[in-house]
Amino acid sequence: MDQTHDVAVIIGSLRKGSINRQVANALAELAPASLKLNIIEIGHLPIYNQDVDENPPAAWTAFRERIKAADAVLLVTPEHNRSIPAALKNALDIGSRPYGKSAWNGKPGAVVSASPSAIGGFGANHHLRQSLVFLNVPTMQQPEAYVGGADKLFDANGKLANDGTRTFLQSFMQAFAAWITTNTRS
Ligand code: FNR
Repeated sequence: MDQTHDVAVIIGSLRKGSINRQVANALAELAPASLKLNIIEIGHLPIYNQDVDENPPAAWTAFRERIKAADAVLLVTPEHNRSIPAALKNALDIGSRPYGKSAWNGKPGAVVSASPSAIGGFGANHHLRQSLVFLNVPTMQQPEAYVGGADKLFDANGKLANDGTRTFLQSFMQAFAAWITTNTRS
């Protein structure tokens, strides 16, 4: 039997009606059974400050432990001013410390960006990839996922209402499952 993988899903948006949260929920529904997607909240994490890392806030410690326990990470994010939202960068920074004990190290990862704009958060997607290179997250390269016009893809209940996007996101998650298997250390 294939192994089941715990995938930590981090959403770059904090707002209740987030399109990216809707995308993340759709990804969880469309993922193959071998992947269990679990959203890890980041909105409550205090802003990273190295001064307090000798006695870190409980929320930082819990976040780090949760990421360490995951088999893979899936980052679903909007674009803020052609980059990633501050909350997401904060979560990346918290997980990366203390130096030498990064929670991200070696976790297979994938990036999805979604925006009402036609270019689907391309700038955020690639800024995020820049950090993931340094964090040693082997990040799936293909297929890329820039979900454009994303405000038109969901119904009033936040359910995906576009067949082409459903087919694409399903194939994305199948590719990610294979990526996780290939990049999981035994
Ligand atoms: C945005 N938005 C945005 N969109 C985009 O495609 N490129 C960008 O650079 C920006 N910049 C930006 C900055 C800030 C501060 C905000 C609040 C918004 C618009 C953004 O894509 C839109 O608000 C999405 O709905 C945000 O995603 P969620 O929150 O719906 O997941």
